[in-house]
Amino acid sequence: MIHDYFHPLSTDIFLTAFMRCGTTWLRALMFATANRHLYKFSDHPIHHTGPHAIFPSLDSKILLEYPVSTFDRLPSPRLFATHFAHSLFPISMTSPLSACKFVYVCRDPKDVLISKWHFMCKIRSEELTPISFNEAYELFCNGVSEFGPYWDHVLEYWKASQESPEKVLFLKYEDIKREPSVELKKLAAFMGMPFTAEEEKGGVVEEIVKLCSFENLSNLEVHKEGGGVQTFTQLVVEYKNYFRKGTVGDWKNYLTEEMRERIDSITEAKFKGSGLTLGLGL
Ligand code: A3P
Repeated sequence: MIHDYFHPLSTDIFLTAFMRCGTTWLRALMFATANRHLYKFSDHPIHHTGPHAIFPSLDSKILLEYPVSTFDRLPSPRLFATHFAHSLFPISMTSPLSACKFVYVCRDPKDVLISKWHFMCKIRSEELTPISFNEAYELFCNGVSEFGPYWDHVLEYWKASQESPEKVLFLKYEDIKREPSVELKKLAAFMGMPFTAEEEKGGVVEEIVKLCSFENLSNLEVHKEGGGVQTFTQLVVEYKNYFRKGTVGDWKNYLTEEMRERIDSITEAKFKGSGLTLGLGL
């Protein structure tokens, strides 16, 4: 269990998401927001290191560096990224009585499938047989994924956000794409660091949106061939693999009508009665 390895502080903020839902983007947005008084946008650490090096991943660090002593040196609020399901966290962290916060980002399941398939193909060992798209599609629809069934992952965080909106902020990739400034202001307020009128007038919100844009991040030296890497227990992932297209609706280039219908009907059935919609009617 996490609490055997990790000691949360009341000020911690966890960025949580199923894989390929926009963690890299949110890492950059949250770090730039939390540390906006420390750095100039023209010479920002994100330009040099990218968001992964400055925003630790709980999943990989816990497995690699037990006990996780390096976390003690992180500035407050400590920011951590994780793909863990909400139900995997101890109640001492998820209960409304605990002060730590969760920012969850989700995405149209159809785009998650496409993005995940491309990612898995890139990072898969060359000794293994490649995964066909049809195989990836079947596994995804059947809920066979590294972090559990996608829909359950989303639903757990959605319910938690409905129960405790001050503790769990639920964001959608598509909303951030459409209105990045609006969503960023929501994020900053949730993190307890709302933008002042003066900051808004001075263009700080737009500066952060620009710094963290797909165009800026994907073109950084550290995200190119031979740039940085993220190390997991049995896997080294090159930073460049966290960037592909960064668009909404790429599934249209891959899914047949029958496939779209199947995924949408799973979404409808799973989310029925929850008040949540995701990727339907697009
Ligand atoms: P695509 O494969 O659809 O392009 P994660 O960071 O959770 O692994 O998610 C990766 C997905 O987010 C990829 O989607 C990637 O291209 C996209 N992405 C990365 N940085 C982004 C950014 N700054 N803005 C929008 N999308 C971004």
